[in-house]
Amino acid sequence: MRHLFIIAFVITFSIINSQTIQSPDGNLTLTFKLTDEGIPVYRLNYDRQIVIKESRLGLSLKETPSLDEGFTISKVDSSSTDEIWEPVWGEVKTIHNNYRELTITLAQPSVNNRQMMIRFRLFNDGLGFRYEFPMQDNLNYFTVADELTQFSLTGDHTAFWIPGDYDTNEYYYIKSSLSKVDALFGKSVDEIFAKTVIGKNFVQSPLMMKTGEGLYVNIFEAALVDYPAMHLEIDQSDFLLTSHLVPDAVGNKAYMQTPCKTPWRTVIVSDDATDILESKTILNLNEPSKVDDTGWIKPMKYVGIWWEMHVGTSSWNYADVNNVSLTLTDWKSLIPNGKHGATTERTKRYIDFAAEHGFDGVLVEGWNVGWEDWFGKWKEEVFDFVTPYPDFDVEEISRYAASKGVKMIMHHETSSSVTNYERRMDEAYEFMKKYGYPAVKTGYVARIIPRGEFHDGQWMVQHYVRVAERLAKNKLMLNAHEAVRPTGLHRTYPNWLACESARGNEFNAWSVGNPPEHETILPFTRLMGGPMDYTPGIFQIKMNFYNPDKKEQVHTTLAKQLALYVTMYSPLQMAADLPENYEKHLDAFQFIKDVDVDWDDTKYIEAEPGDYITVARKAKGKNEWFIGAITDENERMAIIPLTFLEKDKKYTATIYADAKDAHWETNPMAYEIRPRTVTSKDVLKIKLAPGGGCAISIR
Ligand code: NOJ
Ligand code: CA
Repeated sequence: MRHLFIIAFVITFSIINSQTIQSPDGNLTLTFKLTDEGIPVYRLNYDRQIVIKESRLGLSLKETPSLDEGFTISKVDSSSTDEIWEPVWGEVKTIHNNYRELTITLAQPSVNNRQMMIRFRLFNDGLGFRYEFPMQDNLNYFTVADELTQFSLTGDHTAFWIPGDYDTNEYYYIKSSLSKVDALFGKSVDEIFAKTVIGKNFVQSPLMMKTGEGLYVNIFEAALVDYPAMHLEIDQSDFLLTSHLVPDAVGNKAYMQTPCKTPWRTVIVSDDATDILESKTILNLNEPSKVDDTGWIKPMKYVGIWWEMHVGTSSWNYADVNNVSLTLTDWKSLIPNGKHGATTERTKRYIDFAAEHGFDGVLVEGWNVGWEDWFGKWKEEVFDFVTPYPDFDVEEISRYAASKGVKMIMHHETSSSVTNYERRMDEAYEFMKKYGYPAVKTGYVARIIPRGEFHDGQWMVQHYVRVAERLAKNKLMLNAHEAVRPTGLHRTYPNWLACESARGNEFNAWSVGNPPEHETILPFTRLMGGPMDYTPGIFQIKMNFYNPDKKEQVHTTLAKQLALYVTMYSPLQMAADLPENYEKHLDAFQFIKDVDVDWDDTKYIEAEPGDYITVARKAKGKNEWFIGAITDENERMAIIPLTFLEKDKKYTATIYADAKDAHWETNPMAYEIRPRTVTSKDVLKIKLAPGGGCAISIR
């Protein structure tokens, strides 16, 4: 990451009890104050509108007096930063990091002048702030019982929320006013295997909201390391949000030792929804890359032995028995069930398909022993990550893939036996290097071991980072499923290409699925923190194709599945359907072959959470643009001015649109492909079917 220019200056203010800074463009105003009781509070304004009313800051501690009141201000520092940096991969080639900073050093005279700092960074599109605890004689080890941070809102905003849950974020979103939130519905979402719903009025962050005045407000966090994830408790009569941290196995929130700091709390705000999607504040608040040499990190498009297990035509497990043991079972003696997906032959079929159509990688799940009996039992020794099933010849597969120029993608389902994974991961990564696998998809289905820990608690947050670090040392890339949702750490660990950490396309294969509005909400929520391995590209929309009794279906049209490659940003994109299904629609498949996964530029053209998103992206190092437009259950006309194209130049556009009579439910696979010559003066008007979308390549 290169710093092109940096301007920073520091001013130390004279100490008065109230301090104010403005964003570089003057639009946002942040005020910090100490109340008469010495309680730190802050306020945020957007232009003349209040975004956050006076709201409390601080922490309550377990063993010592809390860091909550009785403070005096001992120092005030202010500075500005204006720099440009280049991400290793991303939505844009360069990122502008421009903010004013205010750092308040507080002291507690009644507790030996113990110190805590609050650092605010005010960007043009939002605020970040965190607590810092300098090394000091009077504060060494401490245990956080609760974080007291509040966000006092101005009214009963419309919110796009999922239930607060210590273990999962694989819910569909609900749109309701804050006063109508009832997160207990989460308890009846049976298709999620490990869940711990907190209570009626608890929701997850990122929380996307819209005020009655049309202001978009997003509350989240950045750079979550060595601390639990932050949920939000809603006071439903006052519209006051209070941070709620995920506890550990004994009910504590976080174990700290000075010098230390919390993650950033963020409030991103604009009167234009496209600004929320364009915001780089979360990334800017993260540390620069800790990986020095990043040349080996490559965005990837991949296919894999995966969807066929989700639709039930093949299985992860080799045999149909449910009592196996890693050390005692003679895997060669098991009788194969005849449905095992990860065979040498089937893998070669995918390698051939990838090579023929220009995909970088092939993921194979169910290649390793243990799947007979892998979850639901809270069992510690499930997988060893190095022993293939008898019908998966890893040696031959790695030779064959290399001969075809295709990379294999490893799969480590930990079954959430994380202690087991930590014991075995070094050996597992050596195995990957030996057989030439540059990337791994990890998974954390089921309840966590160490027993009693949650997916999003401090211990697990540390685990996910440990995995990313260990992989980076080995020059390996990561895609983590069921991990805590990302908070921009891919800036610091650019080998951490993607996470799932939300309700992916897979739910459409075997559950009530994802409502048509789902993909218009994800970019405003889960994707605020980083790319998602959503696994788009399902062409065979109705599951009764595989089994006449199946009622499940993908809740989009086929054309919308194409559009998702552009609207759902990720440097790692799967063409998730079976080769056999793509071979029936090679004309539409062409878009997935062509679309890029790394970008020089991105323009969000129109967006409304829960309704629609249209975005155009310029492929890295090429004069090619790709556009994705999606809608919810309502049909709509996407209006796309092509002003971003170079003037006086003619381009060939290929438009992959819903057919006139397409509909996500009644006629989802009807699409049309239209070539067209375009220039920067054209404005495309394209009809999106209910639950539909449109993908366009411009070359
Ligand atoms: C859940 C993951 O999200 C999915 O992609 C994977 O196939 C299964 N776990 C099995 O590991
Ligand atoms: Ca999952």
